[in-house]
Amino acid sequence: MESPWRTPSILLMLSLCVLGSSGYEGGGADEAKTSLHHLPHRGPDRSHEKSSSSLVTSSPITKLFVFGDSYVDTGNADGNSWGEPYGITYPGKPAGRMSDGRVLTDFLASYLGLKSPPAPYRRWTTSTAETGVNFATGGTGVFNTLNPGPNMSTQIDQFQNLLGQVYSFADLNSSAALVTISGNDYTTYIKNKGIGAIVGLKDFITTVVIQLTADVKRIHDLGVSRVLVSNVAPLGCLPIMASFTGHCLGIINDMADFHNQQLQQAVQGLSSNLSALSPTTGFTLLDLHSSFLFALDSKGLFENLLKPCCATTSLDHNCGYVDSKTGEKKYSICMNPQTSLFWDWLHPTQAGWDAVFSNLANTINQQLCRN
Ligand SMILES: *[C@@H]1O[C@H](CO)[C@@H](O)[C@H](O)[C@H]1NC(C)=O
Ligand SMILES: *[C@@H]1O[C@H](CO)[C@@H](O)[C@H](O)[C@H]1NC(C)=O
Ligand SMILES: *[C@@H]1O[C@H](CO)[C@@H](O)[C@H](O)[C@H]1NC(C)=O
Repeated sequence: MESPWRTPSILLMLSLCVLGSSGYEGGGADEAKTSLHHLPHRGPDRSHEKSSSSLVTSSPITKLFVFGDSYVDTGNADGNSWGEPYGITYPGKPAGRMSDGRVLTDFLASYLGLKSPPAPYRRWTTSTAETGVNFATGGTGVFNTLNPGPNMSTQIDQFQNLLGQVYSFADLNSSAALVTISGNDYTTYIKNKGIGAIVGLKDFITTVVIQLTADVKRIHDLGVSRVLVSNVAPLGCLPIMASFTGHCLGIINDMADFHNQQLQQAVQGLSSNLSALSPTTGFTLLDLHSSFLFALDSKGLFENLLKPCCATTSLDHNCGYVDSKTGEKKYSICMNPQTSLFWDWLHPTQAGWDAVFSNLANTINQQLCRN
């Protein structure tokens, strides 16, 4: 992987809702060091049988199916996430997550009380089927991107192929889907069009949201009762945009806002069409945008908001880059990843996801569990 712009796979994943929860099984020694784990938002940890109030328990979700990009991928994409220093906080070595540790999928799965996060499709077997499947692949979008991974339609095809064989309709009835589209379609569009991209960008955003809406509806029509779809983060505040100037890039944030407005209307449309028919199911917009703004505003939580913990001197290289001739590492890692919101040019640290998730948790609790 080279520049994140050339390699949108690095670009975002994201999404989700999640209420926090502590108590990851097999969480390892780093748990104790994760200072954010005492946040009051934490959801019930049913594995320890101490929950009570949450609606999650009255309407348990037993499986999670995940679609999207690097914000939720836990091991499908090839690339940086399988090399050092990714995974240094959790699980302690590179393991396919674009972070130093856990990503949104992990936080949501834990919040829901699943024994483990759903296994990545590429390493999935029937013995790991119990908690669902993660089809998300870093670098992908609703359309084909500069990265080779399966687009969202193909990810849903993969899911559909398991229905009837592995998962029954009753299984899906107690399932949730997590869907993230974090910007790789836009990276690809801008890269392909160059400076001329500006002219047609709004139309392209509309096209992306229409496709995303169709994808989300398809997942629901296949039988998944609760579908959580994330909006995009304030993309102009990602370190790739903001770290050199120290300011979020307004024009990019405007683009993200436009995407988010359109998506919100679309999800409302889906929900209103549905509610009369099937009151026990639904769509939830995960307002990742607001949750990132919350994290960006929490100066007390992070010393480092717009600069990545794992930094390179040029945007041409990403975290993990090693000079192939000299073998020299061309990146440096901050002393304590917990003090940075972002891990690399595009992706939060585990502590960053924890903060974002803590803010998303309320939405999830209200909406995911409203039935
Ligand atoms: C997704 O990828 C497949 C295989 O490349 C392609 O046939 C299909 O048109 C793509 N879907 C969309 C919505 O772009
Ligand atoms: C799905 O769940 C709802 C409520 O949770 C229940 O009324 C319905 O019978 C379930 N359907 C199936 C096929 O399990
Ligand atoms: C909701 O239903 C109306 C009327 O059938 C339809 O025109 C509209 O496209 C639907 N909206 C969505 C988001 O599916």
